[in-house]
Amino acid sequence: MSIAWETGMAKKLWGARFSKKTDLLAEEFTKSIQYDYKIALCDIIGSKLHVQILGKSRYLSTHETSRLFNALTDIYKAIDKGRIKVDLKTEDVHTYIQNLLHKRVGDLVLKLHTARSRNDQVVFATKLYCKISISELQADINGLCSALNILSAKNKAVIIPGFTHMQHAQPVYLKDYLNAYREMLMRDMGRLGYISQHMKITMGAGALAGTPLSASEYSMNAEKIFKDHSDLKELKELFIIEPTNNSLDSVSDRDFVIEIISALSIIAMHLSRLSEDLIIWSTKEFDFVEIDESFCTGSSLMPQKKNADVLELIRGYAGRLNGNLVSVLTMMKGLPLTYNRDMQLDKEPLFNSFEIVSSELKVLAGLVKTLKFNKSKIDEHLKDESLYATDIVYYLVDKGEPFKSAHTIVGKLVKYSIHHSIEIKQMPEKLLKKFSSKIVKKDIVRLFNPQVSVKSKKSIKRR
Ligand code: ARG
Repeated sequence: MSIAWETGMAKKLWGARFSKKTDLLAEEFTKSIQYDYKIALCDIIGSKLHVQILGKSRYLSTHETSRLFNALTDIYKAIDKGRIKVDLKTEDVHTYIQNLLHKRVGDLVLKLHTARSRNDQVVFATKLYCKISISELQADINGLCSALNILSAKNKAVIIPGFTHMQHAQPVYLKDYLNAYREMLMRDMGRLGYISQHMKITMGAGALAGTPLSASEYSMNAEKIFKDHSDLKELKELFIIEPTNNSLDSVSDRDFVIEIISALSIIAMHLSRLSEDLIIWSTKEFDFVEIDESFCTGSSLMPQKKNADVLELIRGYAGRLNGNLVSVLTMMKGLPLTYNRDMQLDKEPLFNSFEIVSSELKVLAGLVKTLKFNKSKIDEHLKDESLYATDIVYYLVDKGEPFKSAHTIVGKLVKYSIHHSIEIKQMPEKLLKKFSSKIVKKDIVRLFNPQVSVKSKKSIKRR
């Protein structure tokens, strides 16, 4: 949906009981159109469903129903194609759509709000927006997963030092490292899917107390909607409208927003970890990987600089995502039932979290595809004998040494090697035997090999 702005005449959805005009500052302060225009299309879908419901009741004739229905379809298309400007003078997106409808159907629009409140409407539109955004984000997650896959396949034989506490630990396959991030992303995918599936779209809560229409009217599939909006068909399984079980809860529930922002924060946290690893690996000190110039930026002062700003921003944005989550959680804390205007403030953090994570996934997929690993530099790091210390422990255990004493023997061996600046490989057999009579030099020398080390780990059931 492309956006153009207009500052025309604004009508409100309320006002008759007021004798004074709203103070301009108060009007500016309370409006949400500047961000909730993003749910305009979803709000129109809600209105079309509402018109359908009213059409089956005594409130709208068949003719009125189709006039409203068609005008809403028209407005949907016009907004979608960027043919209508968003009127920044209106209070919110619901008012904006209502005003557009007024221009097309005249006073018939006055019937649209029968048995309806923005309190219910906003929940409907936000939930639909979330379902659509989740399915788009799942495609972005797939994009990054396949980029990681391509990178793994290109480097399938590469072994790197694995780290714990940022210290050399044991050799691991680079592909396993990359797949660790794919595992995280698959969990993210499942988490979002679960949230979307369990997010019930209900209607009929009214302002808080329900409406005069019977619950059965609100139970429907959206078949008629899919005819005009085939893009929504993809959501068919998820797009089921139900009558509310509890109207008070329906208008005051924002759990779905919190769940989604929380899932998005987890994704941002995962992406920040991948970014941090790549930042460290691309330093001169490590030099494991080269980030393509097309994804780097320079310095205005130091001509030599090639900085990983994209990755740094991804790392930094994780903070913004957490902030968004905390902001909605805090906004909801202690709110009395039912709807309160505070809840309008859920939208910016929600939209912002979706937008950031989506662009992170896209830019990272591009960056990951261009990564080039510096095998000779990685091999230099793999020469560090300490990476194989655990393998020597296993060697001794295989020879009958209890694990704990094998651990102690190798610990002493490592200490001797450091203090005397001599590699274990260089130690004469006689010296090695002092640590354990079970050590045979030619056997352990073979262990200082990344291939031997990774192949000796058999517990992993790789997918
Ligand atoms: N813009 C409002 C929101 O996002 C819509 C609901 C307004 N309801 C009301 N009673 N003022 O929450």
